[in-house]
Amino acid sequence: MKKPLVKILSIAIVCTLFNTQMNSQNKDIEKKIDSLMNLMTLEEKVGQMNQYNGFWNLTGPAPEEGNAKLKYDHLRSGLVGSMLNVRGAENARKIQEIVVNETRLGIPLIFGYDVIHGQKTITPIPLAEAASWDLKAIEMSARVAATEAAAEGIHWTFAPMMDISRDARWGRVMEGGGEDPYLGAKIGVARVKGFQGDDLSAPNTIAACAKHFAAYGFAESGKDYNTVDIGTSTLYNIVFPPFKAAVDHNVRTVMNSFNILNGIPATGNKFLQRDVLKEMWGFDGFIISDWGSGKEMIDHGFAKDLKEVARLAANAGSDMDMESYAYVAHLKDLVESGTVSEKVIDQAVRRILRVKFELGLFDDPYRYCDTVREQELMNHPDHHAAALDMARKSIVLLKNEGNLLPLTKDQKKIAVIGALASDKNSPLGSWRLASEDNSAVSVLEGLQRYSSEITYARGPELVVGETTFINEVRINETDRSGFQEAVQLAKNSEVVIMVLGEHGFQSGEGRSRAELDLPGLQQELLEAVHGVNKNVILVLNNGRPLAFPWASENIPAILEAWQLGSQTGHAVAQVLFGEYNPSGKLPMTFPRSVGQVPIYYNHFNTGRPGPIELVFWTHYIDENNAPLYPFGYGLSYTEFSYSDLKIDAANPKDVKVSVTVTNKGDRMGEEVAQLYIRDKVASNVRPVKELKGFEKFSLKPNESKKITFSLTENELGFYMPDGDFVVEPGEFDVMVGGSSVEGLSGSFVLK
Ligand code: BGC
Repeated sequence: MKKPLVKILSIAIVCTLFNTQMNSQNKDIEKKIDSLMNLMTLEEKVGQMNQYNGFWNLTGPAPEEGNAKLKYDHLRSGLVGSMLNVRGAENARKIQEIVVNETRLGIPLIFGYDVIHGQKTITPIPLAEAASWDLKAIEMSARVAATEAAAEGIHWTFAPMMDISRDARWGRVMEGGGEDPYLGAKIGVARVKGFQGDDLSAPNTIAACAKHFAAYGFAESGKDYNTVDIGTSTLYNIVFPPFKAAVDHNVRTVMNSFNILNGIPATGNKFLQRDVLKEMWGFDGFIISDWGSGKEMIDHGFAKDLKEVARLAANAGSDMDMESYAYVAHLKDLVESGTVSEKVIDQAVRRILRVKFELGLFDDPYRYCDTVREQELMNHPDHHAAALDMARKSIVLLKNEGNLLPLTKDQKKIAVIGALASDKNSPLGSWRLASEDNSAVSVLEGLQRYSSEITYARGPELVVGETTFINEVRINETDRSGFQEAVQLAKNSEVVIMVLGEHGFQSGEGRSRAELDLPGLQQELLEAVHGVNKNVILVLNNGRPLAFPWASENIPAILEAWQLGSQTGHAVAQVLFGEYNPSGKLPMTFPRSVGQVPIYYNHFNTGRPGPIELVFWTHYIDENNAPLYPFGYGLSYTEFSYSDLKIDAANPKDVKVSVTVTNKGDRMGEEVAQLYIRDKVASNVRPVKELKGFEKFSLKPNESKKITFSLTENELGFYMPDGDFVVEPGEFDVMVGGSSVEGLSGSFVLK
């Protein structure tokens, strides 16, 4: 059953050729590209490969000096193919007019922007959305973002981030789909579909960008931009699958990454960009570098100067240069001196033009620049309804001792404590560039709408100083003013809702943490409040898994509410008061302590899995091996039971696993049934568990549903360290349940 690499390669190539030939629209586009490229000078071609940041607003006069002037001049002489951070239909039009009217060929620009979780209407941070395991809702959320972004003149988002990460210290875990490649791939594809739709030229779709290729999520010690050093088995089985899935679903662009892989920076990495992405997977869109990642190859010690950067990056297959100024300065000379072949340039330009044609920019370069449409669509009520739906579905109930939750409408004397409760900015999370500051519904506002019994005490201030993209968020560690008021209020209340966690700007790019606790004085406040009132409901706001073993042990109810975007307060209130029954499941393992990191459910067994009486097994002497909360975990206000596991392995290409799930409680709820397998003996060792299927569905009280999963070769096989995909016969364990640690188990033999 082994499939040799050559075969996979040739299938990929045949498929690409077939698809290209089949689609007459594509054929038409290829012809148009041919004609256009025949007219282009080498310099104009290189211009298409150059992207600048557009930080100025061209509704005023043209810039007269410095960097802005250079960019403006380059725009006018056809040396720019794309800009990022140009936003607003009017601004976009003004800049587009420059190239359309003033350059020789009038090739329109493609405007890119980081539309990460919403444009004006902000949806939950991607990690939170991943906790919903709800692919339809995630697709809808991306569509909302695309609709608003497209109406603001944007053609292309630098999302979704497809980096799998097992390290909660890494601030960018908030941007991704979590730790698992299977779930990550499904979510990534849902986002690509949401952004791109079926027709890239439609006014509510934009090109997506699978980023960061590759292995950026494996930065050592969770420190952003740090060295990556992983084996090829991890590369093929954990890092690549979401990207491969995105390419299979026609993602139009891919961004490379800041890190090195096997000593080679991703931007100059031919193996990643040419061999894997373009050749092996048949990717026919274009690759954009990450911001300045080209010139960072000098700091990495891989290129001696910008000229070498241009040569290495272009030859390795990085098609467009974001803000390194390397291509525009040197590519023409490099081609003329014979150092870079013109074919390399032609290939890159063809890819870029292809996406521009698909977006319809040659039919109408201003099709995304309609100010009336912009007015109508920003913050549209339908978008906020979708954001609320997504936010409710992203919440994970971690603990609910004695059914403290949900609160009833007649609950008396509810105290709300914590600076994050009234904050209207932090819930928007990191990476929400186009949103209005302080535009979220705060948790306090959401709760006040539900009950007149709410009294609020802020407690100590959380953040010291200003929270901007430039300043690092500084957490108050000394000022206890507000403690007393909070404790007094808790004493006089029946139940206390404490909103604690991280500020929205404590995660995201460049925001790695060495600790994973509740920052600042929050733990101390929590213990002080708990000292006077045990009925504490802890609502966590955070952009990454946190370690809070004390709270987990002592606080009766804990709700993981991440940063949920514009509708945060309404979503949290609806869950706390039971209007929505929580259904989220963790997309990343929550550690007990930072020393356990990286911690992930799909680890290997090792040769000494233990436990044994002697100390010589894989464990810590001062910490448990188990996480605080495992991958896939999340409670509901009702209970689900699993029964009747059946496995039919008669057809080795389609093993059927079925199970019956019953709602045993007295309220309607949604469950995510998860299927895990373990390939017991393999020529390259397999993890103790791997997610290979899931389904989310809702059940009324006492209702049952039979769920059937299919395990095909895609799910049963794996990649060998050389990239060869194999399916090996033998024994497999199967587990189906409501998390990665509980459920029914069985096994089968694959013939
Ligand atoms: C980030 C990318 C982002 C780019 C443009 C970089 O610093 O790594 O993810 O798309 O900036 O804003």
